Amino acid sequence: MFRLEAVTIATMAALSIGIATANAQTVANGESILREMRMATRGEVLFVQDTQGVLAPENANEARLNRLQPPDQVMDAIGIRPGMVGAEIGAGHGRYVVQLAVRVGESGKIYAEDIDADALRYLEGRCERWGLTNVETIVGEITDPRLPEGELDFIFVISAYHHFADPTALLRNARASLKPDGMLAIGEWLRSTSPEELEAEMNAAGYRLERTETFLEANGLYIYVFRIG
Ligand SMILES: C[S@@+](CC[C@H](N)C(=O)[O-])C[C@H]1O[C@@H](n2cnc3c(N)ncnc32)[C@H](O)[C@@H]1O
Repeated sequence: MFRLEAVTIATMAALSIGIATANAQTVANGESILREMRMATRGEVLFVQDTQGVLAPENANEARLNRLQPPDQVMDAIGIRPGMVGAEIGAGHGRYVVQLAVRVGESGKIYAEDIDADALRYLEGRCERWGLTNVETIVGEITDPRLPEGELDFIFVISAYHHFADPTALLRNARASLKPDGMLAIGEWLRSTSPEELEAEMNAAGYRLERTETFLEANGLYIYVFRIG
């Protein structure tokens, strides 16, 4: 009840700001103004979902990992923006998928890939509970993530790289899913894979390292951003 009222008040505020802005501009392009207002409304609903828990960890382990890998800082460092289409390989129960899905918004999309069909079923329920409609799950194979070709702005991997039996083969097979200027971003524990080892494996998979984000070194991980080439 409270949530509905909050949505209604926030929506009315957003609409009145939208109307004022629209009036100040011009009514010549009514269609585009209406579209802007609808987008503002949807943005408010997503925001309210955030405070209601869609981004909240669902158990103590997720909470611990989110403290070590703060999602907003990580997504800012990588450059995840509204409207992007991306995939998380090794998505598990979706701890980070919900973060990515809210960040890219309804104009974007997240493919959540894993070889564990049960984990993805859990994630589907998680998305349904919070009304996240921009997530599609994909059950992959050990060396083939089965992602759609040429569609992705980014591939994201976190807390999963060292679980891959053959990361080079898996990420080589993922490469075709990226747009030409797409990126591969990997958050990986330093104790599990050294920066040199990871770079060499990704070079062998057909990527070149663009930069390494070290701001989470005290928490034991680096974030690597690769491009095709
Ligand atoms: C520790 S979990 C991390 C899940 C999620 N990234 C997170 O941080 O909450 C590692 C995940 O990698 C998945 N995995 C292992 N090998 C894989 C492979 N070859 N392809 C895709 N996913 C794989 C596992 O099934 C598991 O869900």
